Formats: sequence, C-alpha cells, structure tokens
Amino acid sequence: MTSTTASHAADLVAALLFILSLAGLSQHRTSRAGVVYGIAGMALALVATVVVAAQSISAGAVALILIAMAIGAVLGIWRARKVEMTEMPELIAVLHSFVGLAAVLVGWNSYLEVEAHGAAQTAVGADLLGIHHAEVFIGIFIGAVTFTGSIVAFLKLSARIASRPLVLPGKNLLNLGALGAFVALTVWFTVSPNLGLMIAVTVLALLLGWHLVASIGGGDMPVVVSMLNSYSGWAAAAAGFLLDNNLLIVTGALVGSSGAYLSYIMCKAMNRSFISVIAGGFGIEAPSGGDQEQGEHREIRAQEAAELLSRAGSVVITPGYGMAVAQAQHPVAELTRRLRERGVEVRFGVHPVAGRLPGHMNVLLAEAKVPYDIVLEMDEINDDFSDTTVVLVIGANDTVNPAATEDPTSPIAGMPVLKVWEAEHVVVFKRSMASGYAGVQNPLFFRENSSMLFGDAKQSVEDILRALDADAPDEAANRRPTAVGR
Ligand code: TAP
Repeated sequence: MTSTTASHAADLVAALLFILSLAGLSQHRTSRAGVVYGIAGMALALVATVVVAAQSISAGAVALILIAMAIGAVLGIWRARKVEMTEMPELIAVLHSFVGLAAVLVGWNSYLEVEAHGAAQTAVGADLLGIHHAEVFIGIFIGAVTFTGSIVAFLKLSARIASRPLVLPGKNLLNLGALGAFVALTVWFTVSPNLGLMIAVTVLALLLGWHLVASIGGGDMPVVVSMLNSYSGWAAAAAGFLLDNNLLIVTGALVGSSGAYLSYIMCKAMNRSFISVIAGGFGIEAPSGGDQEQGEHREIRAQEAAELLSRAGSVVITPGYGMAVAQAQHPVAELTRRLRERGVEVRFGVHPVAGRLPGHMNVLLAEAKVPYDIVLEMDEINDDFSDTTVVLVIGANDTVNPAATEDPTSPIAGMPVLKVWEAEHVVVFKRSMASGYAGVQNPLFFRENSSMLFGDAKQSVEDILRALDADAPDEAANRRPTAVGR
C-alpha cells in the first residue's frame, strides 16, 4: 500500500469514527461511546496528517508541528480539568473562535503563498486560480465572522458584557449591506486579486460577526452557541478546500450541518425564527417593557416552606442555573427522597434551556442520583402544574417567566416556559430580586401564590431538611448520615 492510499484509508476510517461519534452523542446511554469514537477519530486524523506532511517538509518543520501539538495538548488538558460545568458554554465559544481564526490564517497564508510563488508553482495550478481566489475569500469571511461572533458570545456568556441585544439604527440593513458588499468584493477579487481587497473582506467579516452576535438577546444565546458551532464547521470545511485536505472538508461539513440542525431544533423548541437568529436577530425590533416594577413580593422562611411541603400532596421542582451555581443538587435529591418517603408525589420539570448548556440540569440530577423516571421534560409536565400543591423553583428565572406567554413586548415573548404559576403555591429559591440571564424582570415573583425564599439555594434546601428533621425527630434518628452539609 502506498503512503497516499494509506492516508486516504486513514481519512475514511476517521470520517466514519466522527459519524459514529455524532450518532453516539445523540443519546444519554451512548454518549460515552460517542466521545471515545470522537477521540479515536481525531487521534487517527492527527497521526495521518503529520505522517503525510512529514514526507514533503523538513525535519525542523515536523518538530515545530509536534511542539505546537504538545503545547496545545497541555493547555487543552489543563483547561478541561479546571473548567466548571457552568463555564462550559463560554469555553466552547472560545474554542469556536480558534477554529474561525485558524480559517482566516489559512486563507491569508494561501493567498500570500500564491502571490509569492505564482499559481503554477503551488498546488493550486494556473487553471483553477479563479476558484482558488473565491475559496480564499469565502474561507476568510466565514472564519472571521465565526471568530468575532464567538468572542462576543464568550463575553456575553461569561457576563463580561451585558447579555441584552445591541440595537443599532438600521441593524438589519447593516447586516444585509455587509452580505451584499461581501458578494461584490468576492467577484472583484476573483477578477483582480489584491492585498487591499483581502484586508477589506477581513475587516468587513470581523465587524459583521461582532454585530450579528451582539444583536442577539440573552434568551437566544443557546441557539447562538450552536449556530457558532455550525459556522466553525463551515470555516473548517473552507480551510479544508484551501489545504486540499479531504478529511477537514468532511469533518467541517459534519460539524457545520449537525450544528445547523441543532440550531433549527432549538429554534423550534423556543419558538424562534431560525432565519432571524442566524441573521443576528433579523426582523426583531428593539424590545420594550419587561423591566418595570411589578409590585410587592412576599418572603417565606425555610421553616414555613418545610411546613408547606409536609402538607403537600404533590410537589414539582423546577431547577435552573442557580441550582448549578449553588451545587444544590445533592440536598435537592435528599429532599426529594424524604418527601417521597412521606408519601408526597415529587417530580422534576426540566426546561430545554435551563442552566447554561443543553442537558445541564439532567446531568446534575443524574449525578445526585435522582431517579430518571421522575425527571420530566417541559412538554411532559406543563399541563400538570394546575394540579400541583407546591412548586419549588430552585435557581430558575427566565425559564419560569410568565412574561414570555403574557407580554408580547417582552424580549422573551413567545419562548415556551414552565407554567409554574398555575400551581397552588410557588416557592422561589434565589438570593435577590435580580433578573435572570435574559435581563428581564419576572412577574412570577409578585404573584399572589408566589413566595421568595432568599439565600443560596443549597443552604436554603439544607435549612428545609433540618426543619423537616425537627418536625419528625423519630424519622431523623432512624436515618443514616445524609447529604446535608455535603
Ligand atoms: P436564569 O434565568 O439564568 O436565572 C438563574 C437565577 O439563579 C438567577 O436569577 C439568580 O438569581 C439565581 N441564582 C444564581 N446563583 C444562585 C445561588 N447560588 N442560589 C440561588 N439562586 C441563585 O436561569 P434559567 O431559568 O435556568 O434560564 C437559563 C437562561 O440561560 C435562559 O435565558 C437561557 O436562554 C440562557 N442560556 C441557556 C443556555 C443553555 S443551552 N441551557 C446557554 C446559554 C444561555 P440571584 O442572583 O438573585 O440569586
């Protein structure tokens, strides 16, 4: 077998492993296997690429590649070990920005190489020069949009900048104008390539990427993250064309199309227009309302909440980002167990975008060993709130905000939410009256049947457990040491 055939075979096997990885990652049960397939595919792809490259470059250049790989591996392992679960989306945004930046650098390198040596002396060949120039422009454009878009997403997700949408005058026209300018510049560049046009398209795309993501509100950020995932895939595919690397083209297309499909599913689940979100909130006017004072709120203490729970027939717990911040899942699981022992029906209602990444709440609840069968999706639980005695809203805010269904001027209008306010009593666990990620005030807190239990969610749940113990000392004495105080 020649080295070229071996490299093609390695590409094919790696591509199959990536497809198996995506299939595995689509279900909880098979997700670990999916990760293993992905690692195997990437390892094979890296080895094959370096082995093929080693045949046409100097030993010094190979050494540089290996050093870069080692530095990347050390940094990657260090970050992956250090990152908190709540910081995952911002880490993903940073990684997307690297793919975008790489695509921009590959595009520039490809242009400069042809300029320096002439098309005939490079892999491009004189016949395909026009196509090559278009590829360079498209690669740089997608890469630069991904780069600055991901940086803005990182800044918003890590709360370094406000998550509310930027609304520049004529923002839709700005976006459309930038797209039109890109098409015109591409045509010009294929006819008459020059450095000025390269700089122009790079700056244009950097500004467009920044504006597209800055224009999207906090509530739509989950879709933006998956959309940037898709853009990073297309940027990688564009780089694959320029580097003549088939595996990069296939991998980029897999990431690009699966990310686009995930964005589409999320848009449907959140009742958002797919086109509007990928076009930077196209057609969405400046939101108004949502921030006014909503009236008086009531407070409740842990002792009173425990009494309410002891008398309840059915309880639904709706966890959100605050549960992850407080790491309250273990006491919440313990509370669930105790209430069920007392004959209370306890179930969980999980919103598809609760927390900061898809499946965030499910992972935390599974870690705390909450039985799967009482953890229900929003659509499965939403009709049952009217028959529920007590809802415990643990660190959730936007995902239980009635303004989404009742106030057409709200920035989150139309987003499906958990209808917790239909229950007899709602107890909201949070530290203050602050708004959630979307920056929208929540009228739930001011409803007649709502009470605020202020404090860190973990501490509050532990206080309730202690109050329940005090209420039933015999039960507490028979119990083994529990999760309280963990
Ligand atoms: P959020 O609306 O983000 O609200 C979380 C609440 O938790 C805050 O109001 C905060 O109030 C409270 N909190 C924080 N730390 C706490 C602690 N230690 N103890 C008690 N409470 C605490 O949460 P959500 O309902 O889960 O909604 C998720 C939001 O994030 C949505 O807008 C969604 O679009 C967005 N988002 C989601 C994703 C994915 S894929 N899930 C990705 C990016 C963005 P206090 O500060 O007053 O305590």
